[in-house]
Amino acid sequence: MMSCFNLKTWLLSLVFLSSLLPLFHGIPNKEFRVRAVNLGGWLVTEGWIKPSLFDGIPNKDFLDGTGLQLKSVTTGKYLCAELGGGTSLVANRTAASGWETFRLWRLNENSFRFRVFNNQFVGLDGINVVAVSSVSTDSEIFHFVKEGGNSSRVRIKASNGYFIQAKTEDLVTADVSKVNGWGKDDPTIFVLAIASRFQGEFQVTNGYGPRKAPQVMKKHWSTFIVKEDFKFIASNGLNAVRIPVGWWIASDPTPPLPYVEGSLNALDNAFLWAQEYGLKIIIDLHAAPGSQNGYEHSSSRDGSQDWGKTDENIQQTLHVIDFLTSRYANSASLYAVELLNEPRAPGATIESLTKYYKAGYEVVRRHSLTAYVVLSTRLGTSNSREILPIANGLNRSVIDVHYYNLFEPQFDNITVQQNIDFILTNRSSQLNSVTTSNGPLTFVGEWVAEWQIEGALQKDYQAFAKAQLDVYQQATFGWAYWTLKNVRKHWSLEWMIKNGYIKL
Ligand SMILES: *[C@@H]1O[C@H](CO)[C@@H](O)[C@H](O)[C@H]1NC(C)=O
Ligand SMILES: *[C@@H]1O[C@H](CO)[C@@H](O)[C@H](O)[C@H]1NC(C)=O
Ligand SMILES: *[C@@H]1O[C@H](CO)[C@@H](O)[C@H](O)[C@H]1NC(C)=O
Ligand SMILES: *[C@@H]1O[C@H](CO)[C@@H](O)[C@H](O)[C@H]1NC(C)=O
Ligand SMILES: *[C@@H]1O[C@H](CO)[C@@H](O)[C@H](O)[C@H]1NC(C)=O
Repeated sequence: MMSCFNLKTWLLSLVFLSSLLPLFHGIPNKEFRVRAVNLGGWLVTEGWIKPSLFDGIPNKDFLDGTGLQLKSVTTGKYLCAELGGGTSLVANRTAASGWETFRLWRLNENSFRFRVFNNQFVGLDGINVVAVSSVSTDSEIFHFVKEGGNSSRVRIKASNGYFIQAKTEDLVTADVSKVNGWGKDDPTIFVLAIASRFQGEFQVTNGYGPRKAPQVMKKHWSTFIVKEDFKFIASNGLNAVRIPVGWWIASDPTPPLPYVEGSLNALDNAFLWAQEYGLKIIIDLHAAPGSQNGYEHSSSRDGSQDWGKTDENIQQTLHVIDFLTSRYANSASLYAVELLNEPRAPGATIESLTKYYKAGYEVVRRHSLTAYVVLSTRLGTSNSREILPIANGLNRSVIDVHYYNLFEPQFDNITVQQNIDFILTNRSSQLNSVTTSNGPLTFVGEWVAEWQIEGALQKDYQAFAKAQLDVYQQATFGWAYWTLKNVRKHWSLEWMIKNGYIKL
């Protein structure tokens, strides 16, 4: 117990300190600030966060969006959609890159469509293999026949029953009915390499298929994040969670295939737990219809990015915001609605984004006068101020910026101290540049104490995390760590807290 005298001194010093804080930070510190963690990989799947979720998928190397490269054993050259698509396939490329990569559409564990660089689907014109139609149903359905064992040699059978062959370097046809063995001079044999993988919500649900996916996802949703996690969050210096959700949640319990029922029930639980432990919730539309960035974390099927291209698509997205806000507007835990995570330029144009953000703001306001409305900056542009004119004049609006010392060559070979200096000078000035006196609040909605350095010491991570906290706590809305749980330990705030890397 504190004595009366000590209590008084303590209270006085508290008053004194808080009167000084605004001077130190240069901004008023009276308002509540979010100290949040993202619940990544929960209601929107990301395979790298929990790879085991994909373990039970039959033929799990062949998921939607997987990029395949096929080298003919007879020409010794790669199969290629000439000009990236729009004409025929050839087998005359010595190296493989975009035009030589075929993205899978998985129909079931044995049947696939192939999509090429310019987004056409591979089909047949007579016996010639072409990539001319942009309509998936016009395309051919293919089956792989693998050599077996650990060989990467395959044959590809079209649905007309014939195998594809690299007849010459310039001519690829589907006209071989009988094959024999796995010799070296057989034009129906290709060496297969997987150039890229995709492991998002579309891949996991379509991979398991309509019979197994509901069970698998239900189990994931009810075990990956549980009530105890909210208790842990609340008792470790955090006051909020940012929860990524996908657009299909708005049509629960009957989302369009391949998505499955149940993420809404999980989100309902999150609101109950948040209430119990006094946590705030930021709902974050992480995956919009058509995909706003082409990444697996926005549930793109194959890397394509179609969000915002039509008015219908924008209306559909607004409906999701309407659904979510009306459902939770009366919960004391609903703190903010983020309209769209990480739209990517140039595909997500500033015009479509302006239109959507303005309309989305109004949709939230129809149900709630107090919920903050969060507008994410675009990936793929260096101008993070471009959103400011949209947000200016919108009461209780927030700009979300994501800061990772990763993914760009400038972070490749830099030292611990250089990483820290980058936070203290460059991130700090980036954050300042979007912080305006009467404009929207600022939110560092994603950051992590991870870098390109391998084998750094615990004290290095501690210093890096501390530098980031020092800078990001100056964001006028607050910050959110990415993410609570992850098999990669530094990406797991739970692991970082339990192991003494981060103390809040
Ligand atoms: C196949 O497996 C054997 C035994 O594990 C290994 O030595 C060989 O390199 C593998 N071959 C390929 C093509 O992966
Ligand atoms: C591949 O074949 C096509 C069709 O004959 C031809 O137009 C193209 O120039 C060839 N490319 C190479 C690199 O040989
Ligand atoms: C902004 O919203 C708050 C909370 O509802 C309200 O008190 C305030 O009057 C609003 N300000 C303006 C300028 O609309
Ligand atoms: C980083 O260092 C490696 C090894 O020295 C080098 O190959 C690479 O080009 C460097 N990257 C950058 C961006 O400087
Ligand atoms: C970081 O900021 C410093 C100081 O303004 C500047 O000299 C440097 O070029 C910046 N570094 C990067 C990688 O942008």
